[in-house]
Amino acid sequence: MSLLEVRDLNVEFDTLDGPVHAVRHLSYSLEAGQALGIVGESGSGKTVSVLTLMRLLAGNARVTGGEMLLGGQDVLRLSEQQMRAIRGSRVSMIFQDPMTALNPVERIGRQVGLTVEYHDRSATRQSVRRRVVETLESVGVPDAARRSNQYPHQWSGGMRQRAVIAMALINQPELIVADEPTTALDATVQAQVLDVLRTARAEHGCSLIMISHDLGVVREIADDVLVMYAGTTAERCPTETVFRDARHPYTRALVRARPGWGPRTERLFTIAGRPPDLLDVPVGCPFEPRCTESHGLPACRTETPAPMQLGPDHVSACHRARELDRIHELVLADSNGEPS
Ligand SMILES: Nc1ncnc2c1ncn2[C@@H]1O[C@H](COP(=O)(O)OP(=O)(O)OP(=O)(O)O)[C@@H](O)[C@H]1O
Ligand SMILES: [Mg+2]
Repeated sequence: MSLLEVRDLNVEFDTLDGPVHAVRHLSYSLEAGQALGIVGESGSGKTVSVLTLMRLLAGNARVTGGEMLLGGQDVLRLSEQQMRAIRGSRVSMIFQDPMTALNPVERIGRQVGLTVEYHDRSATRQSVRRRVVETLESVGVPDAARRSNQYPHQWSGGMRQRAVIAMALINQPELIVADEPTTALDATVQAQVLDVLRTARAEHGCSLIMISHDLGVVREIADDVLVMYAGTTAERCPTETVFRDARHPYTRALVRARPGWGPRTERLFTIAGRPPDLLDVPVGCPFEPRCTESHGLPACRTETPAPMQLGPDHVSACHRARELDRIHELVLADSNGEPS
């Protein structure tokens, strides 16, 4: 049994303009100990999909279908009380901005300790204190015993994110969900925080969902990648396959859009056009208006591509998934060897 199995999830938001279809027919699974990266442009439903798992959606949200099975149990059907026992204990979440997770007027050690006490009422003050210091040390906070008495504003951004990671780890969850945990940090600190997450995963053996719009970040940490487009799966495959044999034109475009890809002289590639309006998603493939590889295939405009299984761990929701390599070669030949 998978640790997490998401089946045909649909989430809408009620707005004055009508329902926004933020997550549409999303399915994926995650094995125990596995690290999954979720990538996609802004608005593709990455955050909404994990907030649904945590049951932390905004008040105007409605889950209109699907299941999210954690260890076989559908979290969408748990009571709020049952859910509180899971959050921060079996599954914990790390947000982009550590300040949203930290209380500015409470000492850091105390805050991390509260996460323990909340789930283990019988823990003694001493044992909590010991665990807090140990966990802060394990995520690389120097002089943790002393520094745990400080307040968030006395810590740098990178250190605060370590505190948040410690808070997420301290109850040894089965799954950590990190939503852009390094985006607010500068490059050096970003690398350090990724390292902390990698070590934590190796030591605790927990699963990880890492959301990022940066494929480079995901490549550092994830075994598999889920590429989301307009609220649903475009492609799912092992991380290295994304860079070697992606079978969805959107994934390929994301790889080419990466800064640092290709020769230095090349202009930075961006993906032309915009994602569809989630108030009114058109029929056909949601990526079709921006796709450079459909070459007029009628199905791209009339039929929503179902996720196609290309191998044991490779799925692509593209009508052309099996032919993409050949098309790519033809395009290359057409343009006299210039990349398309
Ligand atoms: N409370 C809300 N009410 C209405 N629409 C919402 C609400 N929250 C999210 N949405 C919409 O749901 C869609 C998906 O949003 P989501 O935050 O999951 O995107 P994302 O992939 O995490 O993007 P980003 O990379 O910018 O974080 C967007 O179109 C967003 O505008
Ligand atoms: Mg987001």
